[in-house]
Formats: sequence, structure tokens, C-alpha cells
Amino acid sequence: MSNKGKIFLVGFGPGSKEHMTQRAREAIAESDVVIGYSTYIQLVKELLDGKEVVRKGMTEEIDRCVEAYEQAVQGKTVALVSSGDIGVYGMAGPTYEVLLQSGWTPQSDIEVETVPGTTALSACASLVGAPLTHDFCSISLSDLLTPWPTIAKRIDAAGRSDFVVALYNPKSGRRTQQIVEAQRILLQYRKAETPVAIVKSAYRDMQDVQMTTLDKMSEHKIGMLSTVLIGNSSTFMQEGLMITPRGYANKYDNITGETKDGEKAGRSLTMGLISWKSVVREYLNNEPHHSLRDVARFFNAPMGEIVSAIGEADADVTTGGYKALAIAPDKIEQAIEVSKGFGKLRAVVRAEGGAISELMINSNDFEQRGDWLNIENEHFHFHVNWPQVTSAWLVRHDSKLLGVQFFNPQNETVFNLSVVKQDGEFSQDVVEKYNHAWNELGIRAIQEKAVNE
Ligand SMILES: C[S@@+](CC[C@H](N)C(=O)[O-])C[C@H]1O[C@@H](n2cnc3c(N)ncnc32)[C@H](O)[C@@H]1O
Repeated sequence: MSNKGKIFLVGFGPGSKEHMTQRAREAIAESDVVIGYSTYIQLVKELLDGKEVVRKGMTEEIDRCVEAYEQAVQGKTVALVSSGDIGVYGMAGPTYEVLLQSGWTPQSDIEVETVPGTTALSACASLVGAPLTHDFCSISLSDLLTPWPTIAKRIDAAGRSDFVVALYNPKSGRRTQQIVEAQRILLQYRKAETPVAIVKSAYRDMQDVQMTTLDKMSEHKIGMLSTVLIGNSSTFMQEGLMITPRGYANKYDNITGETKDGEKAGRSLTMGLISWKSVVREYLNNEPHHSLRDVARFFNAPMGEIVSAIGEADADVTTGGYKALAIAPDKIEQAIEVSKGFGKLRAVVRAEGGAISELMINSNDFEQRGDWLNIENEHFHFHVNWPQVTSAWLVRHDSKLLGVQFFNPQNETVFNLSVVKQDGEFSQDVVEKYNHAWNELGIRAIQEKAVNE
């Protein structure tokens, strides 16, 4: 036994000896003491001859960490073992928390080495095909230490963003409704027939695989030793295999074929970061009758991004009749003042729940008070939390629209104002005022003016 203690944080993989890493084996072999949950100790029992073994119950997680620390303080080499990867819903985090609270630092006498292992989601995926070949996330449904609203928000975000989802700790004897609730949330975004794999005890004696669909998921047998893999909108089931495409269909006619028009091998897609906005402009030219909101929905992008796609176009590029100009950040408040001069305005506000309000307002309805922009008259009170407004654009469309749009930091619309026509037309006076605003408030116009001066 050396005088300097050492803690190995060992993830030994799903459970079979073939899937344990060489380093995990070595770490256990080098240790004087092996600590773990009794089921995990059972899974590595062949490696424990001559070792001091400390078995703990499921709820004694912190005890395991404290025990590891106390043994290491005595100069022993300790292996704290856990299934899968010890850093994934495992003991690595709590052990570091206990160590740091005890005043330990990486320079201290006790060395800590983490040995990574194959986590359940990879092990389970390998048994059902290739469900994780595209962006995925893992979510634990255990609400023992995490509030349910936080878990629900993560499931919602995963559903909204089309991630493949791996659910750890999906169900236990007491926690039976969490999986039903997860299913309900995901069905708001995914088709009922979305492929789902429920894998129990991967690479252990009682291994069991059930292939099903999202609408039927919660009717199946799911337990503490199951991981649930839920496909994204492109995942398919074929020949009993669950496959999530890598995305080749976006670039190639078929997986071994020629690139599609406009795409190049080894280069970002035309819908990649640099060029997707030019695709938006092309779309606007081809579908000029679509509203900007339709376009935002089509591209699954916030409205502010669509407006900036219009505004960033070179002068000679058309965008279905639309033009947009970003308002200089220090002139956003001024944009309200200027808008008051446009006569009757229509304000459009969309509530998160889906309701849309259209308010007809006059210049004297505006009032800026502290953090609030209040638009009030005898028919309505409309309050905008002004710090939420972080960017604004002038947006116009030939003879159809003269507007100002206000966005939040996520580039979502807070509200927009548009000039109301009189007798079917914009008055010459208002058009002149709007053109004047274009030259005075717009970033590009200001920059161009500065260059010319
Ligand atoms: C506390 S977490 C531990 C995760 C582990 N550290 C890992 O990286 O796989 C326990 C959950 O992991 C999943 N799990 C662990 N081993 C598994 C296996 N062999 N087969 C299927 N799921 C497993 C189950 O969802 C289980 O409820």
C-alpha cells in the first residue's frame, strides 16, 4: 500500500465482462478497496479476490463517496465502481462534491482518476440498430433530486428541437406516471408512429428488447433497469432495426449516389450557417404571396432571423418585394417616437398560447414609463416590458407594408407596428416620413451616409 491515497472512479460498462475496458479492469486490480452498490459489486465479483469490498445500498450514494474519501485519506487505493459511465448519472459528481467540501484539491495527496465506460444509451443503441446517429440528448425521469417542472421543460425542449431522446430511470415501482407524462409531452411534437426501443438490462443475463412506437410506449413493461430510446422525426424502423439517418439525404440523391443540385461533398449544406439565408431569399422570391410568418414557420426559424435574411441581401438581390433595415441599437427608442408620426398604426401582438391581438393605435396612445412602453386608450391597455426589446427592424413590402418590428434576444417578435392605409393607399406624407426614418435610424443607411460624407 502506498502512502498516497488514490480514488479510481470506475465505470465498468453495461454489465458484461466483454464490454468492460482494460483500464477499468486494471483500476480494480490496483485497488485495495472496492466500494459500490451491491448489484454493481455482484457484476464485477470475479475481479474482487483479495480485496476489501464495501457494499452499500441504493440510497447510500453519499455514504459511498465519504467511505471512498476516508479510505483514501488512510493512503489506500480505492475503486468506486458504477455501471455504465460513472460520470453519467453516476458517482463521479457526488464524489467530487464530497472531496471539494472536505477541502481536497487536485494538488492534494489524494489522486483521483476517472475511468470512462460505455454508458447505457450506447449499449442499448447497439442492440437495436443505429438510433443515435444524429443529435440526441439524455433525460433522466427520476424526480428524486430534480423538480418535475425542470424535467418536463427538458422533455419539451427535446421534443421541440427534434432530438432523439434517451430516457434514463424511466420508471420504478413508485415512479410510474413520469413515463406517461413524458410520452404526452413528446406526442405534441412527434408522430404517434415514431419508433421507440425499450431495452432492459443490456448485456446482462436478463437482457430484453422491445420495439414499439411512441403512442404505445407507456403500455409496455418498463422498469428500473430499462433505458428508453425515442426516435426523432426522421428515425425509421426497418427489418426490426431502429435507424436515425445521418443526413445524407439532404445532400445526396441516395446514400451512394451523386450530390443534389447546389450541394458539394465536404462542404456545408446550402442550408448551412453561411448560406441558409440566401435560401430564405430565394424562397421569398418563389413564394411572394407567403407571409413572413409562414416563411419563419417553413424554415423553423425565429421571425427576426427571417427579417435579417431580407436585410442582409445585397442591393441587387430581390426578396419577394420585401426590404428590411436593422435599426441602430441606440435608436430603437427613437423608432417609437418616429412611428408616432406615421399616423394611425396597427400593432400586432401574439400571445404564447396562440391568441393574436391587433390593436389600432394613435400617436398619443404611447407612453414610455420606466421599463414599460405603455400603449393605452379607452379600449385597451398594452404594456411592453421594454428591456425585452433588444433589436428592431424597419420592414417594408412594395406598396403593401410599411412597418417596424421589435424583437427579443431570441429574435422572436415582441410586437410590430405597421402603418394603416387611408382609402387603400399610404399617404405621400407618411411614405416620406417612413423614407426619412429609413435614412436616419437604419444601421446600414447610417453607415452608408457616413462613408459618403
Ligand atoms: C443511475 S442511472 C446510471 C447510469 C449509468 N451510470 C450509465 O452510464 O449507464 C441508472 C439507469 O441507467 C440505465 N441503465 C443502466 N444500465 C443499464 C443496462 N445495462 N441496460 C439498460 N439500461 C441501463 C437505466 O435507465 C437505469 O434506470
